[in-house]
Amino acid sequence: MIDDIIQISKEAGDLIRNAFGKAHSIEFKTNELNLVTETDKASEKMITDFIKKKYPSHGILAEEGSDFNKSAEYLWVVDPLDGTTNFAHGLPIFAVSIGVQKNGETIAGVVYDVMRDIIYSAEKGNGSFENGKKISVSKNDNLGHSVLVTGFPYNIRENPDKAFERFIAFLKHARAIRRLGSAAIDFCYVANGVFDGFWEVSLHPWDICAGKLIVEEAGGIVTDFDGNKIDIYSTCLAGRQERILATNGLIHQKMIEVMRSI
Ligand code: IPD
Ligand code: CA
Ligand code: CA
Repeated sequence: MIDDIIQISKEAGDLIRNAFGKAHSIEFKTNELNLVTETDKASEKMITDFIKKKYPSHGILAEEGSDFNKSAEYLWVVDPLDGTTNFAHGLPIFAVSIGVQKNGETIAGVVYDVMRDIIYSAEKGNGSFENGKKISVSKNDNLGHSVLVTGFPYNIRENPDKAFERFIAFLKHARAIRRLGSAAIDFCYVANGVFDGFWEVSLHPWDICAGKLIVEEAGGIVTDFDGNKIDIYSTCLAGRQERILATNGLIHQKMIEVMRSI
């Protein structure tokens, strides 16, 4: 199945790349910060058509609404374009993210960094790969020497879940903080050791599913902000949003302590 996930991620990525830099129709979703373009929808249609044709008994949970048979044994969790704001503004940092769950456990994940033409992939128990080469999280255990990444939800102006205070706290403890605008790519840069840690509030299942497995299979840890395990499947079913902390494992507890201090 991983080869099929990679293939359709690349095909959707080609569609997105061809549309990049051209005129878009932009619609607002929940507010003026939360965009969707015709390319998000076209990518989702391409991916869901592929799944329905090749795996007709499988379920789909996809960001732009193509939900289908969600209680099936296999569930494809799809973000057809992660980083829509970047895409719409001409910043070449965005991805296709597809995770596949079997009975609620993620067994495969692929993130395609479209403009760099890099496939990040993982299968449960089999390691993580960047264009076929095995990757591992960083070995840094010093928060003060860490480069962290975060993102902001579309209701950031309301300061949800103390997002401003948490950001300021990490500015005081880390070497540097980055904000790329694609949660899927943020996970992958933790998996390959570029970043030591990633946190964000209010992510959705399609932002998390593939990236979480890619971090874990690269030797990292993904929990909520208290260090508890995250069950993406129950999150999907309940339609809840999540607090995500993904690290190399070595700075995990230190990041939790900083969060507790705010
Ligand atoms: C968004 C990106 C962004 C993150 C937002 C997400 P979208 O996904 O991953 O980095 O900060 O929380 O919603 O809307 O571009 O698919
Ligand atoms: Ca997303
Ligand atoms: Ca998206």
